[in-house]
Amino acid sequence: MAILSEKQGHLFTLHTAHATYQMQVGPLGWLLHNYDGAKIEGQDLSYLVRPQDRAYAPNPADAGGDRTLSPDTLPMEYSTFGLGDFRESCLDVRHADGSVGVDLRYKAHRIIPGKPALAGLPASYGTAGEVDTLEIDLADTAGTVLVTLSYAVFAEDDVIARSAKITNTSKTPVTLTRALSLCLDSQQPAARDVMTFYGRHMGEKQVARTPLRHGKIRVDSVRGASSPQQSPFVILCDAAATETVGECKAFSFVYSGSFLAQAELDQAEQLRLVMGIHPQNFSWQLAPGEAFQTPEVLCCFSECGFDALSNRLHRFQLAHLMRGEWRKKRCPVLVNNWEATYFDFDEAKLLKLAKEAKALGIEMLVLDDGWFGRRNDDTTSLGDWFVNREKLPEGIAGLGAALHGMGMQFGLWFEPEMISPDSDLMRPHPDWALRLPGRPLTTSRAQCVLDMSRPDVQDYLYDAIRAVVEDGQLDYIKWDMNRHIAESWSALLPPERQGELRHRYMLGLYALLERLLARFPHLLLESCASGGGRFDAGMLYYSPQIWGSDNTDAIDRLKIQYGNSFAFPIKSVGSHVSVCPNHQTGRVTPFATRAAVAMSGSFGYEMDLTTLTAEEKAEVRRQVEYFKAHHALFQLGSYHRLTNAQTDDRFTAWMSVAPDKRQAIVTVVQRYPLANGPIQSVRLRGLDPALTYCDAEGHAFTGSALMNAGLLLPPIAGEYGTVLFEFNALFELGAEN
Ligand code: DGJ
Repeated sequence: MAILSEKQGHLFTLHTAHATYQMQVGPLGWLLHNYDGAKIEGQDLSYLVRPQDRAYAPNPADAGGDRTLSPDTLPMEYSTFGLGDFRESCLDVRHADGSVGVDLRYKAHRIIPGKPALAGLPASYGTAGEVDTLEIDLADTAGTVLVTLSYAVFAEDDVIARSAKITNTSKTPVTLTRALSLCLDSQQPAARDVMTFYGRHMGEKQVARTPLRHGKIRVDSVRGASSPQQSPFVILCDAAATETVGECKAFSFVYSGSFLAQAELDQAEQLRLVMGIHPQNFSWQLAPGEAFQTPEVLCCFSECGFDALSNRLHRFQLAHLMRGEWRKKRCPVLVNNWEATYFDFDEAKLLKLAKEAKALGIEMLVLDDGWFGRRNDDTTSLGDWFVNREKLPEGIAGLGAALHGMGMQFGLWFEPEMISPDSDLMRPHPDWALRLPGRPLTTSRAQCVLDMSRPDVQDYLYDAIRAVVEDGQLDYIKWDMNRHIAESWSALLPPERQGELRHRYMLGLYALLERLLARFPHLLLESCASGGGRFDAGMLYYSPQIWGSDNTDAIDRLKIQYGNSFAFPIKSVGSHVSVCPNHQTGRVTPFATRAAVAMSGSFGYEMDLTTLTAEEKAEVRRQVEYFKAHHALFQLGSYHRLTNAQTDDRFTAWMSVAPDKRQAIVTVVQRYPLANGPIQSVRLRGLDPALTYCDAEGHAFTGSALMNAGLLLPPIAGEYGTVLFEFNALFELGAEN
């Protein structure tokens, strides 16, 4: 049983395959956190929560003078501001009289087979049998709000999805000025380290690991997007945790807008982790009876290091977060014209590229930025989703027909959420751009952000995109987003609701994506935000492929893809082979290395294939064939980081193993060659210790030898050279066929 309610509804225990999460209805009816960690069965863990008198901690009136009862010192399951908890609050409620504060006490609970959807939000899903949901109602002592905490337990996957719903149960309006999704308190935290994933444009998902310290370690974004600067994904772990050892917990926010994630160690060494929509410039009015639903946080547990943690998350997201046929099916191998032509293309050039691509086994041409309006550089026309006939005289329909006629699929770039001041869309609709009244517009990359909270904007985009998809019979859309939200003000919202704009923007975006995918269920969506600037679990719900970075340099990609692999399935990371010298770094890397890195991702090309030599073309053909033959292993097999791409500077190695463990591919990329260096080896993971594996040269190794003693690496010639080792299990003598 995944969810146990015992002691007359005073003890709630959630069990997953390897973990236990327990709460109690404690003194005064507060919902307190007993434990979360490695599995413990048949034990009331309430003894772990010790009320203690800490000087000057506030006590509610009904504590009757008992100084040990304080929301500031007990492990609260959902923290609130205003009645004595001085640590980070999840919920700030401003009442009609201007007072701020709620005190939540247990009221009721329900156990629901399956998982109710979260209205308007991306969220994990599963059938009864795959997931059970515990809902606990907490009511404010003054009767103002009811908070429903939801715990969806995906037992097999070691994942619990948490969210909160706040309902106004009073007779007057209330305003939420903060409504976070998750609070996780612990009086004796096992975790000593926190891992966060920071970065920049062209350098996303770098890994930072730091010891918890007294005070608050916070990562956040107030950019209106999850951002490349910080990710809504954190890991708490033992100080000694490694890939294979130690307890670790991942928290992934299923949301793509501004967020806050914070680990706070208090005066008594107690830990509070919170995660949710960023409270900066957030408010939400609730009329009597109205409710606000927070996005959810996926909480994943591993008792044995990061390797198991990420593999559990990968599997879970492929099965319970990503949707549609493309989440497991091989996506077409594509060529994108961006780095091949930038804005300088016409139909003839594109068809020549497509013809060459087709001959090499590539299956789709993606036409990037510049096909619409008068867009010959990045200063105009966003919003004018009408084909530029000077470049494409036969229109999108003509190009689509020509591509489909030659057996190629057709993908097209849009940047729907944006508007150029110099566009036909802006002239009649200046109020569609987010702006502050009475002030000139700020621009970023010469563009402004559309007010996605407006139904008329959503309708315009739906109609415009639908028309183009139908016209060109598109197979794929690259959905780009290249600036952050500076000004938050909507011409349609009253002053007291302007704090709702940023979240309403996200709801508008999600609604539009939902509508388009409902209309075109086979369309493959690749999300992008100047690369991996909105690579989060929220976008993954709509878009099974997300462009990993505008940096296509294979060596820089080692770190970016390493960081991504902690949180997201390998298949979802958009990754292309591009030319050398690389356009972003000027670095020269072997063709084979560029392909080897891109294969542990969505795999495609982003270069002018027509200019390749015959030898290079033959190499591309071989790479495409190899990828097609091994895509399931690379994309759906278990994934193992064998080195730390951030810190190990000699070489980077990783491997993919088939679900039945009978096949594996190890990729090794040399970062720099060392004269007269040591003999190098790498210990493999994920194999069956009892099986015997054969490499391409017929050498046999047991799984236990490869995992415990290691694989000896040959000398790799030159800088950035790569070696791929393929291992296939031998059939045991006497085994059944
Ligand atoms: C940013 C994207 O990340 C690039 O791949 C490309 O599509 C450009 N935008 C086009 O403007």
